[in-house]
Formats: sequence, C-alpha cells, structure tokens
Amino acid sequence: MFILAIIFIAAMQQTGTYQPVGTVSQLMIDIIYPTSDDLFYIERNPPSNEHEWGLIERSALTLAESGNLLMMPGRARDQGDWIKDSKMLVDAGTAAFKAAKAKDMNAILALNDQLVASCTTCHMQYRQNYRRRPQQ
Ligand code: HEC
Repeated sequence: MFILAIIFIAAMQQTGTYQPVGTVSQLMIDIIYPTSDDLFYIERNPPSNEHEWGLIERSALTLAESGNLLMMPGRARDQGDWIKDSKMLVDAGTAAFKAAKAKDMNAILALNDQLVASCTTCHMQYRQNYRRRPQQ
C-alpha cells in the first residue's frame, strides 16, 4: 500500500509538471513539418541577410526542441525506442541550429539525410498505416 502510494505520488508529480497542449499529430503538422521543410528546401529560397538567416535559425531551434516535446510524459509512447527516435530529432535539429548560426547552407543540406532518417525511423515504428501513405 505504502509503495503504491509512493508510485502514485511520483506519477502525479511527473505528469503535473508538464501541460501538454497539442496532440502528437498537431505537433507534427504545426511545428515539425513546417520547420523541417524550411531546412529541407532551404535552397529554394536561400537566406541572404541577417533577418532571413534568423528565420532559419528559429526553425532549426524549434525543430530541435520539438524532439524534447515528443519525449514529455503523456506524449512518449514508451521509454525505449520512442525516446531514442526523439533524440535523433533533437540531435539532427541541434546540428542544424549550429549550422544556421554559422550561416552555413551546405552544412544544413548535408544534414538532410540525418533529419529525414529521424522522421522515417519513428514513423516506421509508431505511425499507423505509414507504409500505405505517401512517404514523408
Ligand atoms: C518520435 C517519433 C516521431 C518522430 C521523430 C517524427 N514523427 Fe512524425 N509522426 C509520429 C507519429 C506517432 C505520427 C502519427 C500521429 C497520429 O496519427 O496520432 C506522426 C505523424 C506525422 C505526420 C502526419 C500528421 C497527421 O496527423 O496527419 C507528419 C506530417 C509528420 N509526422 C511529419 C514528421 C516529420 C517531417 C518528422 C521529422 C522531421 C517527424 N514527423 C518525426 C511520430 C514521429
């Protein structure tokens, strides 16, 4: 009984700290998809001044941190591969953030494969019917 109470209180504290607002699907559509596109297609409209580089930097930072949002209690589907896959996104996003700060477009393009791998690794494991939809 005592042990159960401790577990219960620990669980309450863990979920009580965070207040997830969007679903995983909403994070994908409103945060992860648009910000990753800014990096995947950076060549279409190459940043040419401080302001435009600032926007790329913002997208990369948002994308990197979105990996942390996926790991939050209440969102993480498990403590194994889900966490590993989310960390892949944090790592790729962090590298892109550094490249954006250095205004290095080639470095961002070179990260595309790593970034796509972070999406597809998780989608193959956790996104239902993923194989039947067009690749993303
Ligand atoms: C840690 C796991 C994980 C990572 C990393 C991840 N996704 Fe997802 N994604 C999912 C899951 C799970 C779904 C299905 C969500 C649902 O239907 O509830 C999904 C769905 C989506 C959808 C469809 C959303 C909808 O409901 O129509 C898009 C678009 C998407 N992801 C884009 C991306 C992109 C782009 C990346 C990489 C930059 C990425 N995702 C990385 C887990 C992940």
